[in-house]
Order: sequence, then C-alpha cells, then structure tokens
Amino acid sequence: MQILTVVSLSGGQGKTTTSFFLGLTLASLGFKTLWIDGDPQHNLSLYGRSPHQNDEPTLLECITGQVQPTDAIYPTDWENLSLIPSDRALEQSQTHLANVTMGELLLKKRLKNLDFDYCIIDSPPQRSQLCVTCICAADKLIIPVETNSKGLACLQSTLETIDELSENMAWQGEILAIVPFRDTIRGLNRTKTSREAITYFEQLCQERDIAITPSIVDSEKYKQAIDRAEYLPTELNSPFNKLIELAGVV
Ligand SMILES: Nc1ncnc2c1ncn2[C@@H]1O[C@H](COP(=O)(O)OP(=O)(O)OP(=O)(O)O)[C@@H](O)[C@H]1O
Ligand SMILES: [Mg+2]
Repeated sequence: MQILTVVSLSGGQGKTTTSFFLGLTLASLGFKTLWIDGDPQHNLSLYGRSPHQNDEPTLLECITGQVQPTDAIYPTDWENLSLIPSDRALEQSQTHLANVTMGELLLKKRLKNLDFDYCIIDSPPQRSQLCVTCICAADKLIIPVETNSKGLACLQSTLETIDELSENMAWQGEILAIVPFRDTIRGLNRTKTSREAITYFEQLCQERDIAITPSIVDSEKYKQAIDRAEYLPTELNSPFNKLIELAGVV
C-alpha cells in the first residue's frame, strides 16, 4: 500500500479538496483506496458519506490503540473507496501522541499490513503532533498551496517542517508535488496575484527538483462536485490525473 499524505501548514490551502478528488480518481481506476481523515475539523469525513455512527470507532481509537485500524474502516458511496473517519474528539490524540515514544511514527506503524492499494491522508493545518504523525506516515507528500501571499508563506513553513523531519530521520519519503490551489483566471488571463505566486512556485520547484501539477482553478465547480457527490469534468481533474501519473499509477 502506498501512503500519500496531503499536507500544508495553513488553513484553506486545498488539502481536503485534493484528498477528496485524488481518492475519487484512484478509486475510479479500480484501485482499492482508503481515505484517512487526519483533521479534527473532519471535513473529509463529511464529504466521504460513510455510514459511520457517532459511537463507532474513528481514527482517534486507532491512534490510541483501542481498536485495530480495520475496525475503524467504513465503506463510502463510491466503489473501491473506504474511509477511516474522524470527529472533533481527534484533538484528544495529541496528548497520546506526545506521551508515547516515537509518536511521530505511530500512524505509520498502525497502518502496516492494511489491504489497500493506496491510502490518502488528509492532515490538519497546524504543525501539531497529529500533523507530524500524518506526515511521517507518508511514502509521498502532496502540498497544495493557494496562489497568493498566504500560500507563499504557507509553502515556506511547510517545507521547513518537512526538511526538519527529514533531517531528523523521522520522515524518509519524497515530496510528490506541489499543487497550486485557487488559480484565479479573469476573462482569458490569470490575475497578477496568481501569476506571481505560480512563477514563484515554479522557480522553487525547479531549484528543489519537486514536481508541480496543473492548478486547481478557482471555481465553484469543485465545491459543487463535492456537494453533489459527482466526478469533476475531465478538464478540471487534470491536477489529480497528474498526481497519479507522478505516483507511478498510470
Ligand atoms: N477550486 C476551488 N475554487 C474555489 N474554492 C474552492 C475550490 N475548491 C475548494 N474550494 C473551497 O475552498 C475552501 C478551502 O478548501 P479545503 O477545505 O480543501 O482546504 P483545506 O486546506 O483542507 O482547509 P483546512 O486547513 O481548513 O482543512 C473550502 O471552503 C472549499 O470548499
Ligand atoms: Mg481540510
């Protein structure tokens, strides 16, 4: 099983959107795919439409070891796509992760031996114990960032955190790609803010030899597709098609 964590250390950068459509894309190709909701805000769990009930196990109980991961996996409305959901209580995992030895590697260990082709972890926006364990579980990291000044600052702090974990040997995977989020086109042209941000991302990716995907354009259609549980039109799915190509899927 290949584990892909979607990480970006600021709110609203497109982590859940990327996790959602990447999961759908992999599952639609017939790969057995597992979504893990690593964010106490639990948006992926809401989008995922699983039959999970409030009193049933979630990611929290997997992390604390009260249940096996297989006991917290639920089907979703989509074929080949399952979910380990979360809720607000996931915040309680922070204390557990801080108090166990090698908490950063705990999720990676828990996910060993699961019978899926791909696992996609949606992570929380702050640099917390939970976020670090989501990063360290990954074989590959995907970093969505908004095409504006907040996105630039977020990319820098995200890369700093990843570099630090990599130097400490806590994480030894690779960065799969940066995904520009909410690329804003007005008329036929990209706005100055988006253009400047993307130029910066491209330079940085070239310097660091990191791939960059086509942008997720600023469009209500992504939100609509999530709300209606629909697939994206082909032209809007290109960032996710590129991600699976980079991951060696197709
Ligand atoms: N293509 C798009 N254009 C404009 N808005 C979008 C697009 N895709 C998603 N959104 C909206 O942008 C917001 C942020 O997206 P998303 O939830 O994926 O970010 P996030 O990084 O997971 O945020 P958080 O850190 O709060 O979990 C959401 O309200 C989402 O509905
Ligand atoms: Mg999110």
